[in-house]
Amino acid sequence: MSPVIEKNPRIIVALDFPVEALALELVSGLDPKLCRLKVGKEMFTRLGPGFVEKLAAKGFDIFLDLKFHDIPNTVAAACAAAADLGVWMVNVHASGGRKMMETARERLETLSHRPLLIGVTILTSLGQEDIAEVGYTGTPAKNVVRLATLADSAGLDGIVCSPLEAGEVRPNVNDNFLLVTPGVRPASASQDDQKRVMTPLDALNNGADMLVIGRPITAADNPLESLKNIQAEIAGFSK
Ligand code: C5P
Repeated sequence: MSPVIEKNPRIIVALDFPVEALALELVSGLDPKLCRLKVGKEMFTRLGPGFVEKLAAKGFDIFLDLKFHDIPNTVAAACAAAADLGVWMVNVHASGGRKMMETARERLETLSHRPLLIGVTILTSLGQEDIAEVGYTGTPAKNVVRLATLADSAGLDGIVCSPLEAGEVRPNVNDNFLLVTPGVRPASASQDDQKRVMTPLDALNNGADMLVIGRPITAADNPLESLKNIQAEIAGFSK
């Protein structure tokens, strides 16, 4: 059974810190009613499942961003292990194929409380020449739409994509299929190393449902104020 998807809070704060203490200091100033948290490969590899459980125990929804990609049975077992940690969302590479995604989804379906399962399409770090070199034909955008459609038909709850791609993906997937977008920068913030960015409100208007935002919040002098400012920026959005 599909969980009821509560989109709010729409902001997922990306925790990309080299040490636990810095992450915990930031999190102690945030509020689970205002944001969710994303834990990626760096922090998970350094700190392990205990770190994720610690954050979940503080009341935050956790997106475990480990981008699983392996044979169906292995990915399904990894997703079940993530569910045991109590995470809210987990992801796999859509290029792992229909069977891999369906098997993961079926394994999670057996649980009373399952995490949302979303797919990674084409990494935004890959350009036209990069994808051609690994055998994809057509533009990155065309491949993103193809893999998003595949993920949707394999029963995933959504995908990660850039906010610029969200507009092309949205008409090709179910209305309740989640588009989770990094590459978001408030109008007033630095772009850091992100090249193709959108403001939070533009991203939502372009079809995004949830926004992954890191440094504009994590590197701010006052992270909670920065989070509240972004919430105020998107407060008028009510789809
Ligand atoms: O600090 P910033 O807002 O750029 O952080 C964005 C987060 O989203 C980081 O954790 C980054 O790894 C992740 N991400 C991204 N672009 C993608 C996929 C993930 O920026 N295409």
